[in-house]
Amino acid sequence: MAFPIQRLRRLRANPTLRRMVRETKVTPDDLIAPLFVQLGAGVRAPIPSMPGQFRLSPDTATEEARALWQLGIPAVILFGIPEHKDSSGRAAYDPDGPVPTAINAIKSAVPEMCVIADVCACEYTDHGHCGILHGQTVHNDLTLELLKRAAVCYARAGADMVAPSDMMDGRVAAIRQALDEFEYFDTVIMSYAAKFAGAFYGPFRDAADSTPQFGDRRSYQMDIANRREAMREMETDVEEGADIIMVKPALFCLDLIRDARERLNQPICAYNVSSEYSMLKAAGQNGWINEAQLIDETLLSIKRAGADLIITYHAREWAESLLK
Ligand code: PBG
Repeated sequence: MAFPIQRLRRLRANPTLRRMVRETKVTPDDLIAPLFVQLGAGVRAPIPSMPGQFRLSPDTATEEARALWQLGIPAVILFGIPEHKDSSGRAAYDPDGPVPTAINAIKSAVPEMCVIADVCACEYTDHGHCGILHGQTVHNDLTLELLKRAAVCYARAGADMVAPSDMMDGRVAAIRQALDEFEYFDTVIMSYAAKFAGAFYGPFRDAADSTPQFGDRRSYQMDIANRREAMREMETDVEEGADIIMVKPALFCLDLIRDARERLNQPICAYNVSSEYSMLKAAGQNGWINEAQLIDETLLSIKRAGADLIITYHAREWAESLLK
């Protein structure tokens, strides 16, 4: 009989022992901070549905990046809010658009920072879908052309990584080929490989003004019920040349992060998405939870599930809390 020889509480008896046997640790190295950027100067516009997050201009995004770097956070991922949207999302590959401008500004000021550009059409199309429409559906292969142009545009501006988040088939291979054609051999592709449709991204769509004007994203983003299909999506992206595989949304997909960690050898990134952030913030503002502790536990759970990297809106706040 195990008890009373086995007393698992023995190793929990005091903070020192707990510290010694702690299996998972989160460090600022693990984190990637998302930034919303628009053109202009001196902009720091609060995003109502995401307390503590702002729309930034290239100069304020650079200040933010510098502060993050000083806190030990190695990377930012940029989302653009263009001045004009059209049906074919042309602003996505405008070299003078918000994302290339911000990449340039951040890389000039903080050259060692890893700058990642999200690659998708939805912030740039007037209909809010993640690609080029053919009737009421998003046309896969026409959309690949837009994604290739956008990826090359961001690489040219100095992005270290591009992160396609559209869920078109074949986009990783198409983007790799386009980057290589322009000799951006070292631009890393971090693929949103298993990304699910649902209510998970509501606050983000407010922030980026990218809510679809009709229908939903279920014909391209995955069904949250599907685990085996998630593995197929990830394996396909590995075959197509993705360097880093992402699972999104993180807290709703801890099992899939674990699958990815066990079955793939690529680094695994998990996206702690906007709804996960905003739910926690709202409960915190109401005094219903211990917010700081729950942020810690959120990041730790995602790491324990198997993520190497975590994209999180909590990045700055969490890293600042380490200094206290
Ligand atoms: C763009 C994109 C989205 C997110 C990341 N890239 C929105 C969407 O797919 O609707 C969501 C991030 C978040 O909710 O924090 N396609």
